[in-house]
Amino acid sequence: MTPPLPLYQRLADDIAGQIAAGTLRHGDRLPSLRELRARRQVSLSTVQQAFRLLEDRGLIEARPQSGFYVRPRRPTPPSPPALPVPVPVTVDPLLWQYVQVHTQEADCGMGGFRSATPSAAHLPLAAISRLMSDTVRRQPELLADYGHPAGAIELRRQIARQAMEWGGRFAVDDIVVTHGALEALNLCLRALTRPGDVVAIESPAYYTLLRCLETLGLQALEIPTDPQTGISLDALEQATRNGAVQAVVLVPNFSNPLGSLMPDEAKARLASLLAARDIPLIEDDIYGEFHFGPRRPRPVKAFDTAGNVLYCASLTKNVAPGLRVGWVEAGRFRASVELQKYIGTHSTSRLSQVVLARFLENGGYARHMRAFRRALVSQMRMLTAAVREHFPAGTRISEPQGGFVLWLALPEPFDSVELFHAAIAEGIDFAPGPLFSPCGGFRNCLRLSGAAPWNAGQAARLARLGELARRQRQG
Ligand SMILES: Cc1ncc(COP(=O)(O)O)c(C=O)c1O
Repeated sequence: MTPPLPLYQRLADDIAGQIAAGTLRHGDRLPSLRELRARRQVSLSTVQQAFRLLEDRGLIEARPQSGFYVRPRRPTPPSPPALPVPVPVTVDPLLWQYVQVHTQEADCGMGGFRSATPSAAHLPLAAISRLMSDTVRRQPELLADYGHPAGAIELRRQIARQAMEWGGRFAVDDIVVTHGALEALNLCLRALTRPGDVVAIESPAYYTLLRCLETLGLQALEIPTDPQTGISLDALEQATRNGAVQAVVLVPNFSNPLGSLMPDEAKARLASLLAARDIPLIEDDIYGEFHFGPRRPRPVKAFDTAGNVLYCASLTKNVAPGLRVGWVEAGRFRASVELQKYIGTHSTSRLSQVVLARFLENGGYARHMRAFRRALVSQMRMLTAAVREHFPAGTRISEPQGGFVLWLALPEPFDSVELFHAAIAEGIDFAPGPLFSPCGGFRNCLRLSGAAPWNAGQAARLARLGELARRQRQG
């Protein structure tokens, strides 16, 4: 399944098509930015980006005080394929507000398909709470000080030991414990970039990452991403040629929302490409443990010989979301990341860290994950089958080999935001496509989470969601 292009690119392609077909002739004046905005019902910045792209392709030109014109034909060789253009991130505030409201409701037990947080039914909560009481009783001093900014040594040892399973050789001192992977990503972005910098990302990308980029004043460079094999390395290779990209952020193992998995050869090529260009990679491996196949995929970090990969992960999806514990092994950027941790939140709760260290050491983590993965495989299978049954004909569905989200592309025209409003009015939630784009693209797409156990309630909600989608298609 090929993910749809961003909105501005589609608009540019439409205009380019009209020029190629002769509908717009060389020398013709294009409609003004505002006219096009109203006609296409897109934002001004989408039209501006589309025009910039057409200028880059040599198809149109700006004439002072007069507007944009189709360029006269010149006997020049055809221009090379367009590169993606960096864009400032603007997450739709209304949509974001809904996500936050619904996050709170989901936390209070509302079902549905939006939240990529595992259900309590799959988590080792009894074991964790036993360890928690026992640890408080035995080590009350854990509550008495801040602890080291890099984290509790017991947990860092367990993280290093676990990384050995995929060939990682982490020095305990190189790990900084964080409040989940989200803080790890933020610390890395803060350590590596300044406002205005350009960060290359997957397209579509994890929506909270987009919100982080927006808040830090960073520009996003969307690189085309294949739902099976992940980011296009050819496109990334081209986009990083001119030194304009300061960092790359990727989820190479079971990305969110596509669920793509980069093959090992691609990971090795990525590691050496970015090291050669001195561009750090922030690798988010939060879903690496959720493989459906027999073996855990290696992260790009396993191919990093230059300390160029800042490896982020957490224990929030697989063990205890409420303890909010993650980490980063930041390679040669460790000192800057640790400084960011210190000035941001100083340190992570020592009690949480020690409890998790004890669980990883001898709490049955491997057994728990085997059962959890089995449950997810079955839930994702049921969800996929139900989408096939209930969604409009022509809906394309991702086929992730791990993780717990599905990405759907409905035949255009389709508005997933409209569907979202209709669905939440009936207590059914999911994540509409534009949340995963820096400028409102993927309007006809949506993400469904398969994190909740599949039961009659989920089946009924999914059937209803499919019905609402079909109704919208029928007008
Ligand atoms: C790709 C990705 N990265 C990071 C996070 C945040 O992880 P954590 O809960 O560990 O902060 C999420 C949560 O949904 C995610 O999907």
